[in-house]
Parts: sequence; C-alpha cells; structure tokens
Amino acid sequence: MKEGKLKIKKLVSEDADTVHRLGFQEAEFRIGYDSFWSKRQLTAWFASSGDVCLGAFIGKRLIGFILVAVHNPIGKATIENIYVVPKKRRQRVAQRLRDEAMRRLGLKGVTYAVSLVSQGNLKSLKLFWSGGFVDAGGPFRWASRSLSAQEERRPPCSVSRYKRR
Ligand SMILES: CC(C)(COP(=O)(O)OP(=O)(O)OC[C@H]1O[C@@H](n2cnc3c(N)ncnc32)[C@H](O)[C@@H]1OP(=O)(O)O)[C@@H](O)C(=O)NCCC(=O)NCCS
Repeated sequence: MKEGKLKIKKLVSEDADTVHRLGFQEAEFRIGYDSFWSKRQLTAWFASSGDVCLGAFIGKRLIGFILVAVHNPIGKATIENIYVVPKKRRQRVAQRLRDEAMRRLGLKGVTYAVSLVSQGNLKSLKLFWSGGFVDAGGPFRWASRSLSAQEERRPPCSVSRYKRR
C-alpha cells in the first residue's frame, strides 16, 4: 500500500504517549538516572501555546518530532530534542522539522535559537550547520540539579553524552 504524504503539524497533548515512547527508546536522549521527558511534562509542553513542538506525520503515524522551548522575555528558543524514527532517517524529515520550527519561531518574534549538541553527534551537528546555525565552540558542560524530589526532570539531550565520558 502506498504511504501518505509527510505532513508537519503542531503536537497536541494526545501525542505525548507516542513522543514519550520514541524518545525514551533513543540512546542519544538517555542519561544515567533518568530518560527523556516524562509524559506529564510532554502533555503540558504540547498544550503550551508559547512553545514550538512539531511532529512529522505520515497519515496518523508520528515518525519524528522537534521540541523547542521558547523564552519570550529574551527572545530565545532552545531546541531541546529533534528526532526521526530510524527507518525514515536520511530522507530530509529532520530538515523539514527544523525549517518549519524556524519559520514558526520567526513569526513569534524569537530572535535567536540554540541547541546543545554532543561533539560526537555529527549527524545532528551537520543538520544544524546546514540550517544556518554556526558552531559556537566548546566544550561546555551542563551543571544540573533537581528542585523537586517528586518531579521527574531531565537536562537537554546532549548531556547524556558528556555524562557517559
Ligand atoms: C539527527 C536526526 C534527527 C537526523 O534526522 P534525519 O531525518 O535523518 O536528517 P535529514 O535526512 O533531514 O538530514 C538533514 C541533514 O542532517 C545531516 N545528517 C543527517 N543524518 C546524517 C548522518 N547519518 N550522517 C551525516 N550527516 C547526517 C546532513 O547534513 C543532512 O543533510 P544532507 O542529507 O543534505 O547531507 C536523526 O538521525 C535522529 O533522530 N537521531 C537520534 C536523535 C538525535 O541524535 N537527535 C539530535 C540530538 S537532540
């Protein structure tokens, strides 16, 4: 059966389970004590109109996502995660997600976007460079702490790579 056309759409709370399942399985997003965002965090994030969380869909099937946190007072966007299911990689899906996110961020008046990428994650670095991002140098280290014992928290994706070294 022929597959439908790829569509980039805003993620909604109902997508939280699938995004959680996919992100949870991705080694790039894993850190020692925790993995990926919790379903609760994702549900709240997708319901927030200020942020930009997009999914790549073929029909109803979610095959990729980009999760961006927007901080309005300083016009800054942080790309926390970009992901494409392994079977659909190298088909420019991430490029479409990146470009649509940038378009929507521009419309929101965001003035700059950043993403912390592990030095070893060349495919991700190339994806950003080809989208007009410049290499800001490094190495840098995240210092993170939880402010709540109950709250499931995790730092951005690339921390996992630094932690493993
Ligand atoms: C990184 C990732 C999102 C790329 O998704 P993708 O849909 O395969 O990427 P695209 O096909 O849109 O490629 C866009 C550009 O990224 C770069 N790229 C993507 N995959 C690459 C690879 N395996 N090797 C080298 N460059 C790669 C290339 O510059 C490519 O442009 P080109 O095809 O003109 O050379 C995907 O590999 C993934 O989900 N990885 C696991 C999660 C992750 O590491 N996320 C980033 C950290 S948050």
